[in-house]
Amino acid sequence: MSELRWTLPQGAYTDPGVFADDLEHVFARGWTFAGHSCELGPGDWFRVALGRDQVIVVRDVDGTLQAHHDVCAHRGSRVTTTERGTAKAFVCPYHQWVYGLDGCLRSARLMGDTFWDEQSTTAGVRLAPAAVREIAGLVFVCLAATPDDAPEFDGFADAAARHLGPHGLDDAVIVARDHYRVAANWKTLVENNRECYHCRGSHPEFSLSNFEHGTHGDVRPNPRYDTAVAQARARWRARGLATDDVSFPGGSWYRFTRLPLREGFTTETLDGRLVGRVMGTLPDPDVGSLRVVGLPNLWAHANADYAMTTRLTPVDAGTTDVEVCFLVHADARLDDARVDALTAVWRATSEQDWALCEATYAGVASRGYRPGPLSPVVEGSVASFLDWYLGRWPAAS
Ligand code: FES
Ligand SMILES: [Fe+2]
Repeated sequence: MSELRWTLPQGAYTDPGVFADDLEHVFARGWTFAGHSCELGPGDWFRVALGRDQVIVVRDVDGTLQAHHDVCAHRGSRVTTTERGTAKAFVCPYHQWVYGLDGCLRSARLMGDTFWDEQSTTAGVRLAPAAVREIAGLVFVCLAATPDDAPEFDGFADAAARHLGPHGLDDAVIVARDHYRVAANWKTLVENNRECYHCRGSHPEFSLSNFEHGTHGDVRPNPRYDTAVAQARARWRARGLATDDVSFPGGSWYRFTRLPLREGFTTETLDGRLVGRVMGTLPDPDVGSLRVVGLPNLWAHANADYAMTTRLTPVDAGTTDVEVCFLVHADARLDDARVDALTAVWRATSEQDWALCEATYAGVASRGYRPGPLSPVVEGSVASFLDWYLGRWPAAS
């Protein structure tokens, strides 16, 4: 019998000092999900905030993806004033310094006659770069001290290309984008995502199409489910889809697994029927549901006709912003009723989850909280998340 595992002490969720360390050791030094390639044509940009840091992700006119800290090199103002846009250059609103999409300073008013002559001084006067990568339509940033300090990305990129690539998220369109501000620590949201102990009681819409068994960390034997998985995977393999489980290999930060939906459900909609056209290069609609996790801040389900991505961006110890996006084939033309049909399951499920997380965080932050025991039967994935999280801390390595 394995040793019982417990949730973390209260301060791990509520202490502003721990939150600052989370930003430093978990978010800044690893790869953090930022957004989608399909929103970044030449000149398009969006910004993403992580605690006190804010990064602009932009596609240069030559197609190169760039990321810059949103900090003016003059006196430090934020350069952007909106969430996203299309630009030929970035103009700081304070004193109108102008930066190219590559982050280099293009012009600066009233800086004297010799400013531009002093190349050694002005060479570093630019938007500070951050590391950025994209694969299978997902964009990640790393706020390590220099872009060269970013950790290895290739293992994730290989798994994402094999598993998610056929879903064509790089040639998709976002038909719905929901924003939520959740009154809970980011780890409370991840812990909730990592288990389905709560699904039957809290997610009636999700449970229509999804088996109760089969989630990561659920060790209950279930021959009927195992048979359904084996049969589905044999069909998928025969049509060229990757069916291996990539589950945090070597203690890493990502997971890809393709699982079948319940009989009669082709996608995660209320009636199981497709709403949009089949995406990417998928051979046909029988592809189950590909589940993607990227710690610390991404989970996604990719179905035949749509993908749902959830991005967490921490605000403070007790506040997390969430963006949930729904992507469909770039040529799908969906009216409002069909967008409602497409988003119904995950809109309901997400909002149920935020209510659970807020109720949990209120208890965790209160005087009555003590670390609680995790189920060894269905919460092993919460324990493995906590192991990964604690492994980010320098003292643990
Ligand atoms: S702070 Fe940006 S131009 Fe002055
Ligand atoms: Fe949930």
